[in-house]
Amino acid sequence: MEPLILGIESSCDETSVALLRGKQVLSNIISTQIKIHEEYGGVVPEIASRKHIEAIDIVMEEALKEAGVTLDEVDAVAVTAGPGLVGALLVGVSYAKALAYALHVSLIPVHHIEGHIAANYIAFPDLKPPFVALVASGGHSHIVYAKAEMEFEILGQTIDDAAGEAFDKVARVLGLSYPGGVKIDHLSKQGNKDAYPLPKAKVQGYNFSFSGVKTAVMNLLHHAEQVGESVNKADLAASFQENVVQVLREHTIAAARERNVKQICLAGGVSANSRLREVFDEMKDEFSIYYPPLQLCTDNAAMIACAGGILHRQKIVAPLDLNAYPSVKLGERIL
Ligand code: KG4
Ligand code: ZN
Repeated sequence: MEPLILGIESSCDETSVALLRGKQVLSNIISTQIKIHEEYGGVVPEIASRKHIEAIDIVMEEALKEAGVTLDEVDAVAVTAGPGLVGALLVGVSYAKALAYALHVSLIPVHHIEGHIAANYIAFPDLKPPFVALVASGGHSHIVYAKAEMEFEILGQTIDDAAGEAFDKVARVLGLSYPGGVKIDHLSKQGNKDAYPLPKAKVQGYNFSFSGVKTAVMNLLHHAEQVGESVNKADLAASFQENVVQVLREHTIAAARERNVKQICLAGGVSANSRLREVFDEMKDEFSIYYPPLQLCTDNAAMIACAGGILHRQKIVAPLDLNAYPSVKLGERIL
């Protein structure tokens, strides 16, 4: 039987614990703090840490119950060690260290982005590298070449805002609540994506820049307000979304062609976007396109346990003085 891995995720505003055997999810409990941070229009780090502390015991109990297992059956504890909010990360890391120590099992440090990519291994257990992954979330926008199961090369990344961050900021100026990505996605369905032409940033290589398009939306709204013109919010949301989605698509496809790979994986919160999925699905003649189900796109511990299981097989173990690494890069081993 494959080892039983307990995964813990607490890098931002979701407290999550999952139990996996190989790529099979026995439980994946997610307690989200969205309602709490909503009134501030974004995540408040200090509040996030406190809420993780309150939630983590309850979430773990529920995860064990749903999986129908006990702690003494756990073979290893995997935890997001970075990147993320340092106080939030420390809650999960401290909890995982205590658990691994008490249970006499290995502690496995997982990079949050390799977790997001691993969500595709849960959804598609037969998926094998090489592939190119687009990881787009609230904190990251990376194009990654996966050479082997946990071996990555960054081909491109954002030079300013992450894609999800741009979605959330634009949503805010459109009067939509945090986190705005999913609300823009829904509103865009009633809008015309060609209504407002917005600038596409020219950035070197496969890097991205989303602050220009974000500022263009803000300027357009300010200008309209000053001259007393009305703005069709659904049209503006759809135009913004189309701009971001096309930039993500163009760069990812170009990177995949250059590397001559035929598989593309989408990952991270923004990969839940329905238009993003649609434009990638249109490339199915040339590439096999993979994206996880919605609940595995946004932050969850199942993806961390899955990545942890692979690292466990590779005998990657962290010492019990493991720290949290708020800005560790993908590919840098956390030890
Ligand atoms: O992966 P995630 O849960 O957390 C980070 O690691 O950052 O991603 C959250 C981000 C938020 O910015 C949220 O607005 C965005 O993913 N998001 C979406 C959609 N669902 C979530 N963006 C666009 N369309 C969506 N449907
Ligand atoms: Zn994430």
